[in-house]
Amino acid sequence: MTTVPTLELRGVDKAFGPVQALSSVNLVAKAGEVTALVGDNGAGKSTLVKCIGGIHRIDAGELLFDGTAHSVAEPRDAARLGVEIVHQDLALCDNLDVVGNMFLGREHLTRLHTLDENSMETLARQALDSLSVTTIRSARQLVASLSGGQRQTVAIAKAVLWQSKIVILDEPTAALGVAQTAQVLDLVRRLAEQGVAVILVSHNMNDVLRVADSIAVLFLGRTAAQVRRAEVTQTQVVELITTGRSGALGLSPTQAGATL
Ligand SMILES: Nc1ncnc2c1ncn2[C@@H]1O[C@H](COP(=O)(O)OP(=O)(O)O)[C@@H](O)[C@H]1O
Ligand SMILES: [Mg+2]
Repeated sequence: MTTVPTLELRGVDKAFGPVQALSSVNLVAKAGEVTALVGDNGAGKSTLVKCIGGIHRIDAGELLFDGTAHSVAEPRDAARLGVEIVHQDLALCDNLDVVGNMFLGREHLTRLHTLDENSMETLARQALDSLSVTTIRSARQLVASLSGGQRQTVAIAKAVLWQSKIVILDEPTAALGVAQTAQVLDLVRRLAEQGVAVILVSHNMNDVLRVADSIAVLFLGRTAAQVRRAEVTQTQVVELITTGRSGALGLSPTQAGATL
């Protein structure tokens, strides 16, 4: 059965002056799946995420959303297409509570033009509950008082609240301990189970192997391969990251380059 991917990149190029950050990159992200995006430092992961998010404009190639090519010239275009990026630094406001952060810039107002705190709190709580979040006791807690894992939870629940179709998480567990990492990875799976196409940028091979359905490897700005998680070993993924050669997998070039 072939389903149209929620997001597909075809032949994407992006240069910064003389630096060719991305060359002919292909990527597929499907609804209900976690697609890991891996690669060494400088491979082009952040550039790719910024191209999807409209922070950079691609030089060539296509971005297809549900099978249709769209130009993404600015972050607003990406937002309209249902893309939410959870940046590594999260950009949450410490002086606001969980509800305030989830509705920042998109607040609900009452007919008297005051903040409709009740409706916002109810919707925030629903988003948290839909992800079975048990780590945040009160949606009225100030974000300043939350742990790193709880902050990730707020950022992910925000993506659910706004019905994002594509959620890109940039190194969500980089600053977390073991228990919090496990909680955030569970959340990433539940996000995918809601039908979201999740893209997980990660350096952590354990995380990737644990939650990904598909793994896309960038090597020096090129797509080394995109493979199904179930069909590769950790050694093979590491080899792809360090050599960029899909031949080492024992996969045929079409398999390695196929839209998985
Ligand atoms: N804004 C920029 N201006 C110039 N060069 C950049 C810029 N952003 C990234 N690069 C270059 O593009 C390449 C890919 O970088 P990046 O996407 O950050 O890789 P990764 O996130 O995989 O570590 C690197 O050579 C980097 O120096
Ligand atoms: Mg990066």
